[in-house]
Amino acid sequence: MPVITCIDDLKKIHERRAPRMFFDYCESGSWTEQTFRENVTDYDKIRLRQRVAVDMTGRSQKTQIIGQDATMPVALSPVGLTGMQHADGEILAARAAGKFGVPYTLSTMSICSIEDVAENTEKPFWFQLYTMKDMDYTTRLIERAKAAKCSALVITLDLQILGQRHKDLKNGLSAPPKLTPKSIANLATKWAWGLEMLQTKRRHFGNIVGHAKGVTDTSSLSSWTAEQFDPALDWGKVAKLMEMWGGKVILKGILDVEDAKRAAELEPDAIVVSNHGGRQLDGALSSIRMLRPIVDAVGHKTDVHIDSGIRSGQDVLKALAMGAKAAHIGRAYIYGLGAMGEAGVKTALDVIQKELDTSMALCGRQTIDQIDPSITLIPEDFEGRWHTT
Ligand code: GLV
Repeated sequence: MPVITCIDDLKKIHERRAPRMFFDYCESGSWTEQTFRENVTDYDKIRLRQRVAVDMTGRSQKTQIIGQDATMPVALSPVGLTGMQHADGEILAARAAGKFGVPYTLSTMSICSIEDVAENTEKPFWFQLYTMKDMDYTTRLIERAKAAKCSALVITLDLQILGQRHKDLKNGLSAPPKLTPKSIANLATKWAWGLEMLQTKRRHFGNIVGHAKGVTDTSSLSSWTAEQFDPALDWGKVAKLMEMWGGKVILKGILDVEDAKRAAELEPDAIVVSNHGGRQLDGALSSIRMLRPIVDAVGHKTDVHIDSGIRSGQDVLKALAMGAKAAHIGRAYIYGLGAMGEAGVKTALDVIQKELDTSMALCGRQTIDQIDPSITLIPEDFEGRWHTT
């Protein structure tokens, strides 16, 4: 077992172990990847205030996320094709999250289906919904998530059309991988991944194959999204989806104060400040830059969560200090999964919890509710002064 000191250690093993097309899918932003990069580098601009001689006994990261108990204020984001990073990936990640005590979100674009994850895990998970043109299919997805006893619906608002990630086009991304001279040459070097993949039947988009009609190529994410996703999704439809679900709802993909206000009017349990990990609108601001303006505008009405760019417990702490009630991690746990399956997801969560615990302690805080803006040092122009008209 290699010594894992930080999330980056897991990323290196993930890169060695997983086929190029899937590692690249995870490690991509759209177009120039400016937003993808800044999501991470903007966290570095924020500093933490060291405090000393504070009693540090009895520390805890326990909290509640949308009223549900959690070991720390971190949730696992929905990630497409997780079951291609490691055989049975969604089941393994959901199990690791369940045992650790944080929420797992299953993507509509998962390999393991909703039913499969429910049958093979013990704790309830959240389901992330993409809205399709075929309303019957969308309705069935909601019904399937209800039947699987999912404890929240996460409605993604920033992917009606798919941002272009150059590497996916160049690699011919598909699930399962299509055999071309290039992919065969790469797969031949990934024998451990391949042996595990041969032992599972879960190699297709589990929520569409056998469920959705009219998809020309059920192995291609880009043709699925182009043919099926509902470009007409608007606030009225979001309200309708929330009503159809009737349970806890999180609205994900908000990056603008006006959108946050509109979302808060629908009274969701939380919104997620997100630019989809820099995978959609390249050139958008990083999520962490937009956090404080959105918290100031709607934090009194709804819980504000954040994703995109979180790779450490220090990042989680900074986001909490700036007003987030929870941080959602995507790549940080996918690196762990790709590196070593369920154990790798657990390791990623352990790393983040330890970093969060130590950073909190050195900032003089023992519990999550003691975290406040005064523990951060934020450059005066951090959010930037932008002309909007
Ligand atoms: C799916 O959500 C993706 O970003 O590829």
